[in-house]
Amino acid sequence: TRGRIVVVGSLNADLVVRTEAFPRAGETVAGGDLRIGAGGKGANQAVAAGRLGGDVAMVGAVGADGNGDLLRSAVAAAGVDVSAVSVREDVPTGTALITVDAHGENTIVVSPGANGTLTPADLPERVFDGAAVIGLCLEVPDATVRAAAERARAAGATVVLNPSPFGPGARELVPVADVLLVNEGEAEALLGLPSGAVASDGASVRDGFAALGIARAVVTRGADGCLIVDGAADPAHVAAIRVDAVDTTGAGDAFMGALLLRLADGASLIEAARFAVGVGGYAAAHAGAQASYPTAGELAGFLAERGV
Ligand code: RIB
Ligand code: NA
Repeated sequence: TRGRIVVVGSLNADLVVRTEAFPRAGETVAGGDLRIGAGGKGANQAVAAGRLGGDVAMVGAVGADGNGDLLRSAVAAAGVDVSAVSVREDVPTGTALITVDAHGENTIVVSPGANGTLTPADLPERVFDGAAVIGLCLEVPDATVRAAAERARAAGATVVLNPSPFGPGARELVPVADVLLVNEGEAEALLGLPSGAVASDGASVRDGFAALGIARAVVTRGADGCLIVDGAADPAHVAAIRVDAVDTTGAGDAFMGALLLRLADGASLIEAARFAVGVGGYAAAHAGAQASYPTAGELAGFLAERGV
């Protein structure tokens, strides 16, 4: 049976402009037309899992404005329960100012808006009851992330934390995770390991995480796939799938949503990560954040074309 997923996190309107190359400080560059898309790390994770058929509820906050309406309907359209997404009268919906360059790379500035007002009081008990897996990211206040992890633990759910954006609070929150999802640079910074350690020295990564109380982790390595730490076993590498990146915005969130989905199905961490690599690849090969996420059928077609 399919377990229920709860994502506690952010919802942002993504204001996206493509440019040939990013501007340097003090420089002005011309870009393409402005696109407004549904984003925010939490909402992206929820939508990725929901569109693939997951049983998902989202907890978050938007403003009482057009962007808030757009986000709530985008998330609901993916089949996600948005009854615990609060609407604030006095703050704007979170916004992300995104530039995407010719290589599909991005720069993002986030204005938290309503996401910054999400408190532990906004975490309804009924949403956590019977949940199998909880997904957390750091675009909402640290105290709320911590409270959500405690509530999840009390409900017997697995806490999956993506400590992104990786700011000063990340290090202290990491121990709340049952499963940690970080990228290579973040893992090396957290563990005080030299650059290249994730690629060459999985045992040190595993032991470093164990010292932080983390037994299960996925360390993403971009085009090089990911490293899976699962207990005392030798960490395993999972290969990426080759895609021509169009827009990597939200690809990491798609990976996380896919991981949540398969963990809620009872899959092992490595099985979940193999699935997530395909979903993240699909998202990187398409424009936008939530707009780039596949249904199960779309994913199957994409993988079959690539012989995966
Ligand atoms: O991870 C991608 C997301 O980061 C974007 O959708 C943007 O809203 C920011 O939160
Ligand atoms: Na994308």
